[in-house]
Amino acid sequence: MTPFHTPFPALRFRRLRQSAALRDLVAEERLSVKDLIWPVFVTDVPGADVEVPSMPGVVRRTVEGVVRAAEEAAGLGIPAICLFPYTDPALKTETCEEAWSPDNLSNRAVRAIKAAVPEIAVMTDIALDPYNANGHDGIVRDGIILNDETVEALVKMALAQAEAGADILGPSDMMDGRIGAMRAALEAAGHKDVTILSYAAKYASAFYGPFRDAVGAAGALKGDKKTYQMNPANADEALRLVARDLAEGADMVMVKPGMPYLDICRAVKDSFGVPTFAYQVSGEYAMLKGAILNGWVKDEVILESLMCFRRAGCDGVLTYFAPEVARRLKG
Ligand code: PBG
Repeated sequence: MTPFHTPFPALRFRRLRQSAALRDLVAEERLSVKDLIWPVFVTDVPGADVEVPSMPGVVRRTVEGVVRAAEEAAGLGIPAICLFPYTDPALKTETCEEAWSPDNLSNRAVRAIKAAVPEIAVMTDIALDPYNANGHDGIVRDGIILNDETVEALVKMALAQAEAGADILGPSDMMDGRIGAMRAALEAAGHKDVTILSYAAKYASAFYGPFRDAVGAAGALKGDKKTYQMNPANADEALRLVARDLAEGADMVMVKPGMPYLDICRAVKDSFGVPTFAYQVSGEYAMLKGAILNGWVKDEVILESLMCFRRAGCDGVLTYFAPEVARRLKG
């Protein structure tokens, strides 16, 4: 018998790839606008509502501009928008009080969006970096990022955000014990229906660089975040963190960054079967957008880059491409 004993290949996989109709019919995954959370930057600093240089196409918006963005998102069918404040440097202190001021920029923006576009879910960020004179996510004393003191501050932040009307709280700080402390405080204050999307597996990543420009934390940051964010070498630890945050009361969990950590997304989904999100972060956006603008890759990479999250088991993804993707999926 020769290896060519049959007159045709026994398995013709190309049969099901021959037309768009057949390809669609057998597609295992589909990307939907309903899977997207759109992160937006808000500012009230005069003149700061401009494009972020390291994120072409991404602008900081005034509170009014953010309301218009929320209207646009709702019109496109995007279910959620996530707010990140670019705080006036004059309001940044080592004690970070601005973080839990009921009238801080983020809380004002939440109220304005909920008043104008109540149907969109508003997600907020819980971490001290936009308010911290030293750019860290926690309170720093003698060069040490203090865990428990930071958690106390984060709880105050969570309550202020819930009070403002946030639907989804996103603790992105990576302190230990913050989810349990927040959940207990939210319950005690009557905010039993506020959801928590925990940044459970957040790695100490250089892919956050453009974001730190966008929120004005880049210049302020002293040192790095490696004593609280995860080592990119670790996967088992991610599962232990997810288990811990779920036990403490998280409703949903996130893996961050996205594309370099798809193995973690898949492991989290397979291990826990909980709503799992990935954050395609600023540096991932910058890489793709930069290459597109230079003509080095086609803009088809955007949808391809998001499909990988579905394949890896994610229920949804935070992406700066959200409105662009929504328009593409429509058209
Ligand atoms: C900080 C925070 C960061 C991001 C979201 N929240 C940056 C950091 O940890 O330094 C990054 C998002 C992005 O890069 O798009 N609490």
